Amino acid sequence: MCGIVGYIGCKKASPILINGLLKLEYRGYDSAGIATIENDKICCIKNKGRVKELQNSKDINTLNGNIGIAHTRWATHGKPSSTNAHPHLDSHKNFAVVHNGIIENHNELKKFLLDAGYTFSSETDTEVIPNLIDYYYSKEDVADKERFLKAVNKATLDLKGSFAIAVISKLEKDKIIIARKDSPLVLGVKDDEKYIASDIPAILEYTNDIYILKDGDIAEVTQNDVVFYDKNLEKVRRELESITWDAKASDKGNFEDFMMKEIHEQPEAIRETIGIRITDNKPCDFSDINITKEYLSEISKIYIVACGTAMHVGVAVKPIFEKLTNIPVEVDIASEFRYREPLINENTLIICISQSGETADTIAALKNAKENYAKTIAITNVTGSSITREADFTLYTHAGPEIAVASTKAYTSQIVLLTMLAMHFSETLDLHKDEIIQNLKSEMMELPSKVNIILENSDEIKAFAKKIYKEKDLFFVGRGIDYAAAMEASLKLKEISYIHSDSYQSGELKHGPIALIEDDVTVVGILTDRRLLDKSISNLQEVITRGAKTFIITNQDIDKKIFPNIFNIPKVHPFLSPTLSIIPLQLLAYYVAKEKGLDVDKPRNLAKSVTVE
Ligand code: M6R
Repeated sequence: MCGIVGYIGCKKASPILINGLLKLEYRGYDSAGIATIENDKICCIKNKGRVKELQNSKDINTLNGNIGIAHTRWATHGKPSSTNAHPHLDSHKNFAVVHNGIIENHNELKKFLLDAGYTFSSETDTEVIPNLIDYYYSKEDVADKERFLKAVNKATLDLKGSFAIAVISKLEKDKIIIARKDSPLVLGVKDDEKYIASDIPAILEYTNDIYILKDGDIAEVTQNDVVFYDKNLEKVRRELESITWDAKASDKGNFEDFMMKEIHEQPEAIRETIGIRITDNKPCDFSDINITKEYLSEISKIYIVACGTAMHVGVAVKPIFEKLTNIPVEVDIASEFRYREPLINENTLIICISQSGETADTIAALKNAKENYAKTIAITNVTGSSITREADFTLYTHAGPEIAVASTKAYTSQIVLLTMLAMHFSETLDLHKDEIIQNLKSEMMELPSKVNIILENSDEIKAFAKKIYKEKDLFFVGRGIDYAAAMEASLKLKEISYIHSDSYQSGELKHGPIALIEDDVTVVGILTDRRLLDKSISNLQEVITRGAKTFIITNQDIDKKIFPNIFNIPKVHPFLSPTLSIIPLQLLAYYVAKEKGLDVDKPRNLAKSVTVE
């Protein structure tokens, strides 16, 4: 999705802004732009395409000002073009605005502004914002020191929808006004320099001291000061947070791509996520959220709600929650859940999973659930993200920044965290599942080294990828908990290799999909549950009979004569197998995409965090 960067300080702004945009490329975008104040006017350069093109444009060297804003746009209203790219200026060229989010009432506001004599050049919803600011600025008292702030505030009060904005003006050249509602925005401080961004990695290289704006916040940012206000322009205090991610965590290090780096970071991400929650013979430590037995005893149903990969985590952990807590669990896609009026009440627990903590549908689902009195827990990877402000309780994975659009380390960390949460619920409820919990705890501690074993054998996956990368269709099948890995593997392959694939519960094949099986179609089977092994094998034999070739991911003894392509993963408790079985399948998607010469980190049409509906 769109990205915002802003800078005010003693240095030349444009290199800092461009650098920030490069760090935000992972969010996905189709055009980029920058505006700085040069002498008495706003200079704006924008183009369709990559930030690199902006960086290499000849005009970029004419920007010498030390205050500016910049943006990467992911088209919503109006096609990708330099005219539609941000920053947008008002028709008098007094203000420049970068905006993330969607202004739902832009047509109505545009009509009002046209009647007031303003003109528009783009097809965007954003262009109403600088014009509204100019309109209100012209109505304020010329001697008022807060004229700019007041004008931006009045404009934002007219906006319906979601926004994070940063605004500069040639009329007040010493400040940037920023504001947010339902779209993230952060402000980094370092002495007499201030950095604005929609995402922490954009500015982490400059400072770890960061304010995370709350919904409804508006702030006046000058070189030496920051003052926060609420929407009534009452001053509010915001706490400075010290972000522990280091800048290197958002660099590729020795890896060719972020995705490969993040796949290899999984042992560490899992270890960090386990943290101190599991220690010898003690109940899982969730003292950070203090969920009581009384709280849990009231819960009669759990919904796990999320999108994409995070939703697949729900499918993987549903059987674990049901087994350990005896509470029925339903897994739902957030964009469906929010509109389907699910039966929820004060006895329902909603667990929303979101790596970014900014996914619009997931946040809306959580808000809806709260309005219907449900209890809510957010699982996220990003400190202070929007979802954390809505949920009753927040639990963090400690995967570090995930930059590649295709989620990898967030997925495995989320499974680990939720498995521990299920154990914690069981222990808190005194359900006496000691033996299974003890097994899970000790096996969980071994997961990082088992992931490493798989990573060491990645050449086998690479070799198989070379055989199949030209295929048009693939199938992933599994039973029970292996179906979660099949779903996630299919999504990974689609996202980054653009090969069509489907996932099915193995037993479903003969109810329709087997009609698609013909000579040389590849079917990837995931077989980790010993109880279901024979059934899964016979399902796969049925596709072999119809000409398919198979690739098997397993930790069971499988006949090599029937299945010549087998990738072995370490043995593990069946509940923990999704964390291991997905690793070779992440690698498969990666190597297939690389064979096709594709950009694995920034697949077409996709954004890292989907902050609009
Ligand atoms: O940030 P979130 O976890 O809420 O994101 C949810 C999905 O958009 C995300 O998992 C998406 O499916 C990934 N691109 C999958 O790799």
